[in-house]
Amino acid sequence: MSAPSFLVTTPLPEPGMRLLREAGEVVVPAHPPSAEQLLQACASGRHDVVVAQLTDHFDEELLATARIRGVSNYAVGHDNVSVPAATRRGILVGNTPGVLTDATADLALLLILATARRCVEADAFVRAGRFDGWRPELLLGADVSGATLGLAGFGRIARATAERALGFGMDVRYWARRGPVPEAELGALAGRVRHASWDEVVRESDFLSLHVPLSPGTHHLVDAATLRAMKPTACLINTARGPVVDEHALVEALRTGEIAGAGLDVYEREPALADGLAELPNTTLLPHVGSATRSVRARMARLCADNAVAMATGRRPAHLVNPEAWAQAAVTPGTGLPGRG
Ligand code: DGY
Repeated sequence: MSAPSFLVTTPLPEPGMRLLREAGEVVVPAHPPSAEQLLQACASGRHDVVVAQLTDHFDEELLATARIRGVSNYAVGHDNVSVPAATRRGILVGNTPGVLTDATADLALLLILATARRCVEADAFVRAGRFDGWRPELLLGADVSGATLGLAGFGRIARATAERALGFGMDVRYWARRGPVPEAELGALAGRVRHASWDEVVRESDFLSLHVPLSPGTHHLVDAATLRAMKPTACLINTARGPVVDEHALVEALRTGEIAGAGLDVYEREPALADGLAELPNTTLLPHVGSATRSVRARMARLCADNAVAMATGRRPAHLVNPEAWAQAAVTPGTGLPGRG
């Protein structure tokens, strides 16, 4: 059996690259592949596994001709892969959950605090040489302690955000599509957070923080009507995925004062911003850095590479998004491995 081939669309931090090199051939294109280049590389039968970024799209068309064993995504989110189409073709999809939970929850809190306390405006004010002394009404912001935090979604990152928010004296409620989580499963959060309807969370939150994966069901979960229903003093926080919010509607809501502010790490058409967003002073805008600490990115790289090596060598990956594909993956005669097709 020849050594496996990994197509790495963008180099990972070194611990991941080392694991891949030790396991087989590592092909890194000079530039991240275009959609057409990725389709051709996947169809060529040259690579066993693609080590992918959230910016690489594996849609139905690509997957229909793909001759690969798996896609190992360097992210916990996997909305860039049509998972049902991959599963139908027996193509394994891996992700990197867990290791980025704390870093992303930290960033959600950072956006809450920075937006509430107008940190970006205040920083620009000082740098512009406009700070000429303490004044009672300089750059007044909103209270965080005592404010209501509404969480959309209640997975790992939302729960870690809740823990931090409770430490800041916030009143936390959450909405989850599957309904309330049994108290027995809430651990340290039991009795300290409560489930509420989506309407209640939208209407009553001072900060509405999004923690749902992107899917057809959550696309534009926050639209013009949602923004109208929020308090005029409320802030929207998004560390999940951009298209969960109708960004054009958000710009309008911020412009007209329907809501007070927004703290965003993700955008609907990343890296482009909706017209007018960057000009609004009541926003904190970050470049999708929720998991961007050195140690977290290194741990993601190890998990991602380990998933890829497992896929290529017939071992069940530790983090498999579509376990159904494991059961049904075609086996290459004589190797016992899911085949390149
Ligand atoms: C993810 O993992 O899904 C983040 O968006 C990038 O770390």
